[in-house]
Amino acid sequence: MNVQKIMVIGAGQMGSGIAQVCAMAGYDVILHDLKEEFVDKGMGVIQKNLSRQVDKGRLTEADVEAILNRLSRSSDLSNAKEVDLVIEAAIENMEIKTKLFAELDQLAPKHAILATNTSSLPITEIAAATTRPEQVIGMHFMNPVPVMKLVEIIRGLATADEVYETIEAITNKLGKVPVEVNDFPGFVSNRILMPMINEAIYTVYEGVATPEAVDEVMKLGMNHPMGPLTLADFIGLDTCLYIMETLHEGFGDDKYRPCPLLRKYVKAGWLGKKTGRGFYTY
Ligand code: CAA
Repeated sequence: MNVQKIMVIGAGQMGSGIAQVCAMAGYDVILHDLKEEFVDKGMGVIQKNLSRQVDKGRLTEADVEAILNRLSRSSDLSNAKEVDLVIEAAIENMEIKTKLFAELDQLAPKHAILATNTSSLPITEIAAATTRPEQVIGMHFMNPVPVMKLVEIIRGLATADEVYETIEAITNKLGKVPVEVNDFPGFVSNRILMPMINEAIYTVYEGVATPEAVDEVMKLGMNHPMGPLTLADFIGLDTCLYIMETLHEGFGDDKYRPCPLLRKYVKAGWLGKKTGRGFYTY
């Protein structure tokens, strides 16, 4: 299928990054959020990232202008009527996502693919809110989107082969590497990453080591670019807790129980870098 126009829903950290890489790859992109001010903020992040590329001599001012010209803003979901692909990167909440997908199903052209960047929610359940479950797929980007090579592509129970192949080709065009996985809680990335982060939090909770020591062990001993607690702060502790709860509920296995210290930090509003405090202060 020929995809030329993409709508990205959600102009936050993930959505703005996705919109940026799509526009850089030559797609026409509509960046959508509930309010214009959210879209403006996302566009500001994109502009900053692109200017950094100019400073590093990787893009010219003319390239940046062309990329920005391919990006348009939206706070009206009916703009979905013009697109071939929607990539949803809204809040991680099943009720909100199913409502959004039901609306998109009404608005988007019949041929359009509806993809979600969910980090752990079942694609099959999101697809069931539409009348086109064969055209619904998971397209899970990693943070920071412009830097990270992986896109985990998740097939829902009904996802058509042709849809998978289209999304795989688009991912390659974005300069990313697609990896195919099936639809089970946390897919592959978060089923492995989050229990590791949760276990790192347990080592702090049980007094085995300080956050700094845990991070040093994993950075210097395992060559991780960031220690797990720095990474947790970077991802957002609310997101980490939400994913652990999705794994715990989805598998019904207590090996995925979230650490009480993680719950406590989230309740305190210590959500990591975005709130200025998590395992570290920023
Ligand atoms: N946006 C755009 N570019 C960014 C960026 C951002 N937020 N942060 C860093 N970069 C770029 C820098 O500009 C720099 O670019 P160049 O090499 O082209 O100059 C490059 O990334 C490296 O940055 P730094 O030198 O400042 O720092 P670093 O070497 O420590 O790298 C990092 C930063 C890429 C974030 C690295 O620490 C890293 O890989 N960390 C782990 C990230 C990770 O695990 N992400 C997955 C999170 S899990 C997830 O996303 C899934 C989920 O569902 C929760």
